Amino acid sequence: CLRELRSAVPPPANATQRLPGAIIIGVRKGGTRALLEMLNLHPDVEVAKAEVHFFNLDEHYRRGLGWYRAQMPLSLPGQLTVEKTPGYFTAPLAPARVRAMDRDVRLLLIVRDPAERLVSDYTQVLHNRQQRQKPYQPLEELLLHRGRINTSYKALQRSLYHQHFSRWLAHFPRDQIHVVDGEALIRDPFPELQRVERFLELPPRIAPSNFYFNTTKGFYCLLSAGHDKCLDESKGRPHAPLSTTALHMLCRFFREPNRRFFNMVGRSFAWC
Ligand code: A3P
Repeated sequence: CLRELRSAVPPPANATQRLPGAIIIGVRKGGTRALLEMLNLHPDVEVAKAEVHFFNLDEHYRRGLGWYRAQMPLSLPGQLTVEKTPGYFTAPLAPARVRAMDRDVRLLLIVRDPAERLVSDYTQVLHNRQQRQKPYQPLEELLLHRGRINTSYKALQRSLYHQHFSRWLAHFPRDQIHVVDGEALIRDPFPELQRVERFLELPPRIAPSNFYFNTTKGFYCLLSAGHDKCLDESKGRPHAPLSTTALHMLCRFFREPNRRFFNMVGRSFAWC
């Protein structure tokens, strides 16, 4: 009832739709939704609820910045608008297009073990196909070709973080892109959110009391103004199986790309 009453209150006269001051650019299945929802706990942040896909889809990009702005939530002066579209990270034209909009926009990239991300990516596509009663090959058939890693598999390419990151670095200085550790966000979200607040120059308003571990969900959920919220069941679902042999091959394959990515970002992650 309270929620309905609140939405019936007209917005303040100085509330308007603004272009984002920060964008979560990816990576798909890295924890982008969790990061957006957690950032939304901050009173100075307004987020676009749906993925906008402006910089990665030509049919949207052609509509221009007026269209893009119209996808944004209402915000007050001094508030930061944030949108997330994981497809930006891997889209070849996105970095130049984002820079053309605003060379000072701040970028957030949440990463996760690339092998784990790949399996999560496959699991999502499998689920979507099953919903439409369409068949899909087992993961190992897509991942391996004649006993070797199939480098043309799209989900594998999306996990080659160094390739995509280097395109962003061609358009933005390193310190304009904040890298969030997706595994750390799952284990203990508060310290990661503190780092994000600092990067975005927001006053510290997110508190440990905004998070509680939900044993049924197996993940942290959010608490704000008496409401509690867990991400939907598409986040944190069981992964499709992968044999130990294939997983080892995958981990070996990612060793060199990961090393290159660590060099680019100036830190390392405990990935397989
Ligand atoms: P899995 O479903 O593979 O576990 P994205 O939002 O970019 O699609 O990322 C989805 C991933 O977010 C999930 O991947 C899950 O592991 C991760 N995640 C991080 N924090 C979470 C949280 N608090 N609740 C649910 N999922 C979370």
